[in-house]
Amino acid sequence: MPQVQEFSQRSPSGAAHLFHRPALASSMAAQLMSESFKSGLFLTGPRRTGKTTFVRGELAAALRDEHGAFVLYVDLWDDQKLDPGVAIYRAVGMALDAFDGWGVRLARRIGLKGFRLCGVEISLERINAGQVESLTTSLQNLTRVTGKRVVLLLDEAHRCQTTELGRVALHGLKAARDALLLTPGPGFRFLATGSHAHKLEHMVREKREPFLCARTRSLPVMGEDFLHWQRGLWEHGERPSLAVMGASFDRLFHRVEDFIEVCNSVRAIAAIDAGEAERMLVEQVDRWLANEKKVFAEKLIAAGPLATAFLHLKAERGPQFAPHFSGSHERVMQLLSLMGETAMQPDFSMQGVEATLARLEQLELLWHCRIYVIEDARHVDWLLEMELSTLFATDRRAVKAA
Ligand SMILES: Nc1ncnc2c1ncn2[C@@H]1O[C@H](COP(=O)(O)OP(=O)(O)OP(=O)(O)O)[C@@H](O)[C@H]1O
Ligand SMILES: [Mg+2]
Repeated sequence: MPQVQEFSQRSPSGAAHLFHRPALASSMAAQLMSESFKSGLFLTGPRRTGKTTFVRGELAAALRDEHGAFVLYVDLWDDQKLDPGVAIYRAVGMALDAFDGWGVRLARRIGLKGFRLCGVEISLERINAGQVESLTTSLQNLTRVTGKRVVLLLDEAHRCQTTELGRVALHGLKAARDALLLTPGPGFRFLATGSHAHKLEHMVREKREPFLCARTRSLPVMGEDFLHWQRGLWEHGERPSLAVMGASFDRLFHRVEDFIEVCNSVRAIAAIDAGEAERMLVEQVDRWLANEKKVFAEKLIAAGPLATAFLHLKAERGPQFAPHFSGSHERVMQLLSLMGETAMQPDFSMQGVEATLARLEQLELLWHCRIYVIEDARHVDWLLEMELSTLFATDRRAVKAA
């Protein structure tokens, strides 16, 4: 029987190319299995810092090998069209199906009450009508058939807040967690990840949220041992000093893949001395960041001046961002004027503002679910240091020329 059920189409990166953090995995696995974490653990970390790779690979392995857990990994980022609630029900159902004989599976699919979820449409109506086995029953059965503690790792859990079925599934998981805590047996643990602390914090701080009181923890960024590992990959030429590598990693916002790419490009041109290797590394980081900022500026141009002004306002105000407040509209007008858009008369009605913010969401620049969050934390600094007067200048020149 599989010990780690994966419900993801992303192919795991080759383990040989990965940097491993076994001590971190062991300590986090032990924490998660301890009594203090029985309400759940919410793990946060900035974008692209290795959360998924760590949770799906090393943490899952530590839970399985060191604690004999049955690990279910569900990636809510994977299929953006799939309702996160459906993804959760389906993952638990598929795990159970893996233990059932085909006869039982068939009986479920042809309509026996309480049938499970694979190959069956999961909807709110069916759940409300009791036609879908509850997550409590399914997870209880899963602990029974496996004889192991079930640990659910839910990647990008904040997506659950975006649909009704997602919220129902979260409440279902909470009910299952509570029921399994009360019944004798191997039990259940839950870990959720999210790329933005604010997105997850909301889920554990709000009274009405199912995981109130669950623990939060941020995944430590890769440390010096990771830099040593990268330096160890230098086969030809001189390598940059650890200090310069560390500074470069910091400048890249601890994005693992970006840093590895930059190091690879420096390694490809063998340097004659350490000084040259360091210069090349700094240059490559500059180039990398310049390109990322260019891509960001292109997105802003696609969003238009008004949406850019609102995003800038969000960067300035942080959690105090109030897009419907008249004081905010005054600031938006000032920002538009800084961009040279003096003739613009924006629609500041409720619908007008919502439409502008929706544009930012479509472009994945802003995330909204009760609170607004700038999707990529790097964008906050980039917006604040940006020369607004030139951003749309080319567009305006093109309009004049036409
Ligand atoms: N331990 C590692 N060793 C080597 N490369 C890694 C490691 N962890 C992550 N990476 C690289 O960084 C990329 C991003 O990692 P990952 O998807 O795990 O980050 P994330 O924090 O989950 O990102 P997101 O915020 O988009 O969900 C991976 O595709 C991989 O190329
Ligand atoms: Mg991830």
